[in-house]
Amino acid sequence: MNIAIDGPAGAGKSTIAKKVAKELGSIYVDTGAMYRAMALFLIDNKIDPHDENRISSKCREADITIAYQDGVQRVYLNGTDVTDHLRTEDVGNMASVASANEALRAKLVELQQKLAASTPVVMDGRDIGTVVLPHAELKIYLTASAHVRALRRYNELLEKEDRDGGLPDLARIEADIISRDERDMNRAVSPLKKADDAVLIDSSDMTIEEVTAQIVQLARQEGQNA
Ligand code: DC
Repeated sequence: MNIAIDGPAGAGKSTIAKKVAKELGSIYVDTGAMYRAMALFLIDNKIDPHDENRISSKCREADITIAYQDGVQRVYLNGTDVTDHLRTEDVGNMASVASANEALRAKLVELQQKLAASTPVVMDGRDIGTVVLPHAELKIYLTASAHVRALRRYNELLEKEDRDGGLPDLARIEADIISRDERDMNRAVSPLKKADDAVLIDSSDMTIEEVTAQIVQLARQEGQNA
């Protein structure tokens, strides 16, 4: 069974998708990390994120692959493991802008579809239920209010030991989240939107465990009906 989980940044997709995959014995695929690896490549090559032609040709030179170490996804960019360099605001913002590029998306979608064809996956992203796996047995659209998502990110940053002094700026984080949503939902190619047959879950007032349990239950029901 393939499960697609889409939703905006900070809704808890990756944490929950990982737990669901573990419970069901599937592989977790974080497609955002692939877009982030591509963004890192573009940043390293000083490509303007709005230069569509440059991105379309340059992305052909980026070979992105994924592998699993102790069940954890590692992302390789031209043979180098870049997993630990992907979760910065700069890389996230570049990924959000550059992911509007059609050629770049086509390349990553192909990789994602190959993975899902080879093994049962729980895959999270923005266009999994709508474009990558339109026939997934279960589709979830996971969201939460922008304020709750900003607070979660704020708390995550507070816990980081390598924070260089000062408190994170909650208002800025929320503004960033809102503009990222805006870009992800309004781009011409594969915008973030709920697939018609996706189950909507608003996690604003739910714990990670509650959301995980709900998705696992839906997956088991789906398995019984198949
Ligand atoms: O989920 P994330 O924050 O790691 O994703 C980073 C960016 O990549 C996000 O702003 C939009 C883009 N993305 C996408 O366009 N399609 C996906 N399937 C996954 C991510």
